[in-house]
Amino acid sequence: METVHSSAESDNRPTVEVTKDKNGIDQFVLRNLRGSSATVSLHGGQVLSWKTERGEELLFSSSKVNAIFSPPKPVRGGIPICFPQFGARGSLEQHGFARNKLWVIDQNPPPLPGDSNGKACIDLLLKPSEDDMKLWPHSFEFRLRVSLAADGHLIMISRIRNVNSKPFSFSFAYHTYFSISDISEVRVEGLETLDYLDNLCQKERFTEQGDALTFESEVDRVYLDSCDVVAVLDHERKRTFMIRKEGLPDVVVWNPWEKKSKSVVDLGDEEYKHMLCVDGAAVGKPITLKPGEEWRGRLELSVVPST
Ligand code: BG6
Repeated sequence: METVHSSAESDNRPTVEVTKDKNGIDQFVLRNLRGSSATVSLHGGQVLSWKTERGEELLFSSSKVNAIFSPPKPVRGGIPICFPQFGARGSLEQHGFARNKLWVIDQNPPPLPGDSNGKACIDLLLKPSEDDMKLWPHSFEFRLRVSLAADGHLIMISRIRNVNSKPFSFSFAYHTYFSISDISEVRVEGLETLDYLDNLCQKERFTEQGDALTFESEVDRVYLDSCDVVAVLDHERKRTFMIRKEGLPDVVVWNPWEKKSKSVVDLGDEEYKHMLCVDGAAVGKPITLKPGEEWRGRLELSVVPST
């Protein structure tokens, strides 16, 4: 492994190391001084792993990843980035092309006010290719910063700039696959009383009635205009994921359950029990950018012990 930044031992700083996956694509391992880590791939700008200081994995990855994954498909797990659309519409591929593209290192990222130092971080950049422009004729610069803070929080900041002469609109999601003990032991708090679009009922709009969201069958919903903190409580593993978001009004919740899992080729039949997608997203109303404008969407994930 080649070390990109100075090593923690020599000058007490967080580190970023570069390695290659089996397809020869660069991956970056961010490590803080307490030993937490996160792995980010140039393929899709996708976070593939996020681990506590005890080496416990917090993100789900399908066991079929090694056997099946090969670009241009994204890995089933981690945090794929859905842009410029969420879902399937028109000639664009499902969830957009960003997750299927090779990103580059952003050599000169513009400053990010308020993002303090002391984190292990990597800045990536995606610009549209000629082929992308045929399907989605809008010129943009997508800058992604992934940081691992001293306390182990994983922070993702996306900045999308319109470098066209015309406005364009897009939707977006951090499609986060949390690793959970058992789907029947988990509940999501922070979505009570919200309206949601149900993808299992042709996007019909309903209102959440329960105190917390629990799971007994397939769920595929977009909760609209949620507050900026949502919690995923895992009773069996006695831990709670906290999701803090900015610029991302909506929350997508997805678990394919038993029947759909069998039709997802890169997911094991029983693996739906150990994954839950809860995404900070901008899906309900598309974001529109005028020429020269920039949008920013920030996600901060942390994990705390719970009873
Ligand atoms: C969810 C969608 O968020 O993502 C589902 O609402 C979809 O309908 C799922 O099946 C996974 O999508 P993909 O393209 O990664 O298989």
